Amino acid sequence: MSDEKFNVKSLVTCTAPVNIAVIKYWGKRNEGLILPINSSLSVTLHQDQLKTTTTVASSRHFKEDRIWLNGKEDNINHPRLQSCLREIRRLARKRSSDGDNNSEKLNLSHKVHICSINNFPTAAGLASSAAGYACLVYTLARLYGVEGELSEVARQGSGSACRSMYGGFVQWIMGDKPDGKDSIAEQIQPETHWPELRVLILVVSAERKPVGSTAGMQTSVQTSPLLKYRAESVVPERMKEMIAAIRRRDFETFGELTIKDSNQFHATCLDTYPPIFYLNDVSKRIISLVHRYNTYYGRTRLAYTFDAGPNAVVYMLEEHVDEFVELIKQYFPPETNGEQFLKGLAVSPVSVTEELKSAIGMESCPRGISYIINTKAGPGPRVVEDTSLHLLGSDGLPKHLKQSA
Ligand code: DP6
Repeated sequence: MSDEKFNVKSLVTCTAPVNIAVIKYWGKRNEGLILPINSSLSVTLHQDQLKTTTTVASSRHFKEDRIWLNGKEDNINHPRLQSCLREIRRLARKRSSDGDNNSEKLNLSHKVHICSINNFPTAAGLASSAAGYACLVYTLARLYGVEGELSEVARQGSGSACRSMYGGFVQWIMGDKPDGKDSIAEQIQPETHWPELRVLILVVSAERKPVGSTAGMQTSVQTSPLLKYRAESVVPERMKEMIAAIRRRDFETFGELTIKDSNQFHATCLDTYPPIFYLNDVSKRIISLVHRYNTYYGRTRLAYTFDAGPNAVVYMLEEHVDEFVELIKQYFPPETNGEQFLKGLAVSPVSVTEELKSAIGMESCPRGISYIINTKAGPGPRVVEDTSLHLLGSDGLPKHLKQSA
């Protein structure tokens, strides 16, 4: 196995992807272990557009564990970070006591330095904790030579992070054991299964930072009867239908379930007391646009989903991307002299018929959307082989700090 060469090194760099749920995780039954009240399902996005890169170094010269996130030193004592570090070290210890010689080569008492960056702006409000914790756990596991089921460890960093441990279409099975050993992620289909599927992220210009998901879902669990109903009586059946729709690449069913699940999640937010609002006026306009478009064609061609913020993620087939982008430009005209409006996979300009425009019949909302990222499903975490891409230098300090000093 090529894996063996990594656990003798004391410097490892890996990348991990973002994932966007089409059946949402919202609510924990155990806060400490991060065990959910329902299973969930997501699409892993391609790392060409969105990824976290993490370097971990270990040395007997390091006095303490340290972490740098997006250029700044951060608090290593964060409980979730500590859970991940502790779990990986425990697995590494277990491995060496089980008689695996390779893992003995890295001294477990040595401290680590961790450096992590995202290739997308944190300010865009795109969930970065999933890619971040997935990358941390994957990189630490490589450093210590730990193999096997790692989604259970990533889950303890951030619930949604367990789904970023795999590429393609991934479910997080809620499990029922009190210790969480069966609350793990599992790939349903690889990213190659549905090559025509596209994912467009519409970054909405937001004024305020919304309530974070950890705090939000805690209040929902305590106060929303709708959330309890959803978890017990809606999601189990919906998971089965969604998995079947993905298996047969049935966009209509996939899209309708995605929309309904996003709407129900936001309904549970409104049912929370006091209520939580993640959708803003632009989000609601995007919802209208999608429904009017689908009605015009008499089919579900577009499917939106929203997480704990106003940004829309719209799933569609490749053949419909050009027209959709043109409509977005029409109804949310961007700043002409500003930043590039369209990022990611290429889009060709097309004209939209007057008939479609009048069927949509919406007023335009200038600058409501800051930019669009056009991407698709992609693979899970990867080791970066090129050693020049390590984020930490041979002295164990971030390279960018030295450049700017
Ligand atoms: C709305 O995974 O960020 O994006 O487990 O507390 O870290 P913690 O929460 P987090 O919640 C994600 C919520 C969501 C839905 C989803 O991704 O399934």
